Amino acid sequence: MTGPVLDADALHRRLEELARIGAIEGGGVCRLALTDEDRAARDQLVAWMRELGLDVAIDPIGNIVGTRRGRSDSLPVTTGSHLDTVRTGGRYDGALGVMAGLEVVAALNREGIETERPIAVAAFTNEEGARFVPDMMGSAVQQGALALGDCLEARDVDGITVGEALTRIGYAGDAPWLRASAFLELHIEQGPVLEAEGLTIGAVTGVQGISWTELTLAGVSNHAGTTPIALRRDAGLAAAEIAVGVRRIAQDLGGAQVATVGQISLFPNLVNVIAQRAQVTVDLRNTDDALLQQAEERLQALAADVGARQGVEVASRSLVRFRPVDFDPALIGLVEELAGGAGASVRRMASGAGHDAQMFAPNCPTAMIFIPSVGGISHNVAEHTAPGDIETGAGILLRAVLRIAGGGGEA
Ligand code: HGY
Ligand code: MN
Ligand code: MN
Repeated sequence: MTGPVLDADALHRRLEELARIGAIEGGGVCRLALTDEDRAARDQLVAWMRELGLDVAIDPIGNIVGTRRGRSDSLPVTTGSHLDTVRTGGRYDGALGVMAGLEVVAALNREGIETERPIAVAAFTNEEGARFVPDMMGSAVQQGALALGDCLEARDVDGITVGEALTRIGYAGDAPWLRASAFLELHIEQGPVLEAEGLTIGAVTGVQGISWTELTLAGVSNHAGTTPIALRRDAGLAAAEIAVGVRRIAQDLGGAQVATVGQISLFPNLVNVIAQRAQVTVDLRNTDDALLQQAEERLQALAADVGARQGVEVASRSLVRFRPVDFDPALIGLVEELAGGAGASVRRMASGAGHDAQMFAPNCPTAMIFIPSVGGISHNVAEHTAPGDIETGAGILLRAVLRIAGGGGEA
């Protein structure tokens, strides 16, 4: 295959350099959205974008978009991902897609290739939803799926709003919302499928639906030693029953249904006090929206049943609800074609994780390229992907962007 080639060393170097920002024990990264670590990563990205001659724009939710001019001033072919991580994050989730986007630009610059369409590389605000809910916040607002005002008002556990945090780190911008002619995201699979099947590339067909619910259970705190069991209204026990029941919902529905209780916080959270209050988050996902709705209905029934049996009041608040999305068949086919051309094994697959790409899917042809996660591990400091797979994935991204942007220069 002729045409522009990536500088693999430069890609790995940038990934290494970025991983030093917010580095934590075990080789992982903690860059919660809009913290100092996120700002440092953003500043580094902006500097790299400027070195590559990109026009850098920051929009009102803090998304960073670097644009390389094309012969025409049509809507840009866009790639990218996110720089923020969960608290126990890995060094590739999100960062890979942004760094690979930079290397696409660098390769085209090196070869002096001018494309018909402009090319944009984006880093979206708060993709993880780990500090501020919901996840995919920046891309959802930019692409019209969520309202800017609501998201600027979202608060973290300390009561700080997104708007305040954006201003504090200097990324409350005023650039117009990006509109793309196509969107392509390179991302680690974050699951076990590619590795288990000995495959290198996932041509992603879409993203499953996501439903996040916060349940607040109000009981009566009392003395752990003096209160007879029959008289207890124990929010802690109720939370535990919810967690067990949530797993049963996934088992009963089977198929693609997954269900996770990721957060349980008790008040007063003391060894000798029956919990007065429990806050429980429930993450439900399914590729089929009707089944996801069934899971949501079962969750509400479970919460009501546990509340009645344990004598605790239940309040339920929806935090996130994104429908499943399908990606563009032609782009999925292009990923398959280019993987084959690169001699890489490839399969079609849905994404279990949410991604910024799902916010572009209603607006323009969109697809994703997956590469394997070692041990299927992610959202974990041990997250790892083989350098060769990173290079293969980034090479396919380069060719796909070049093809869609009308760059010629490739066989
Ligand atoms: O929750 C997700 O799937 C993504 O990592 N934000
Ligand atoms: Mn991600
Ligand atoms: Mn993630």
